[in-house]
Amino acid sequence: MTAKIISGTEISAQIREELKEKVKELKGKGVTPGLVMVRVGEDPASVSYVKGKSKASEEIGIYSETIVFPEDAKEEEVLAKVEELNKDLKFHGILVQLPLPKHIDTSKVLNTIVPEKDVDCFHPVNVGKLLIGEPTFMPCTPQGVQQLLVRSGYDPGGKHVVICGRSNLNGKPLAAILVQKKSGANATVTICHTGTKDLPSITRQADILVAAMGAPKAITADMVKEGVVVIDVGVNRIPDATKKSGFRLVGDTDFDAMMEKAEAITPVPGGVGPMTVTMLMANTVRAAEMQSGLAK
Ligand code: GUN
Repeated sequence: MTAKIISGTEISAQIREELKEKVKELKGKGVTPGLVMVRVGEDPASVSYVKGKSKASEEIGIYSETIVFPEDAKEEEVLAKVEELNKDLKFHGILVQLPLPKHIDTSKVLNTIVPEKDVDCFHPVNVGKLLIGEPTFMPCTPQGVQQLLVRSGYDPGGKHVVICGRSNLNGKPLAAILVQKKSGANATVTICHTGTKDLPSITRQADILVAAMGAPKAITADMVKEGVVVIDVGVNRIPDATKKSGFRLVGDTDFDAMMEKAEAITPVPGGVGPMTVTMLMANTVRAAEMQSGLAK
């Protein structure tokens, strides 16, 4: 068996086309969705991520601005800027790129964003709403995982989804999304983590395995059953002398071996990654609809 590739690049492109149409419609009603990104410092990954989000905004027709603070910016300055952006009607979504420098209290900054503009879905109010199944934004990467499954014909309903990794960014919110009694969800969900005993005995029960622990190729083919659907959230740099950059990206699963055993799998790169940015765009459009009273 050779696994089918679930292409995040292709599914992302399809969703972006849908979003372009929605933005056109909103603009026709006098509303231009606006996203503001706040970056503190020059962490190369953050610079690149924010650039990608800005480019995607432009492609879809979302107005975006990026505000950059120096690495040594004071916490009060960042908080004051967030307060100002909360009131700025141009922006329906506010994103503070993480990680923040150590001297800044991340929770304090994220909790200052008004929940209505929290397009990352990091505010405790939105996380709480997500858990109890109230309509809210869904965090971008877990929402991207759900879309990848649903749009490639692997509805999680009634399936056993095993999530490896319990982060607040991925594992925990994904479990909250997939366990809801809703279409595109309604799964039996197990979360595994570093305290899990006999991990392979649990991963082998997975109909859908989500690897989100941040450990290169940690889930090997002997740890899954034949016909599993694998969603690999991992993005790990490993040394590769044949590349100009000196490294290449791999996921948290052993992709080549999984190709022989899985029914379907997401590649790294080109799987979950492009979906994260696309879901941020979807949340921004949704925020604009809700704040302008145009939500259906
Ligand atoms: N840093 C890494 N991933 C993310 C994300 O999804 N949102 C924000 N704001 N920062 C990140």
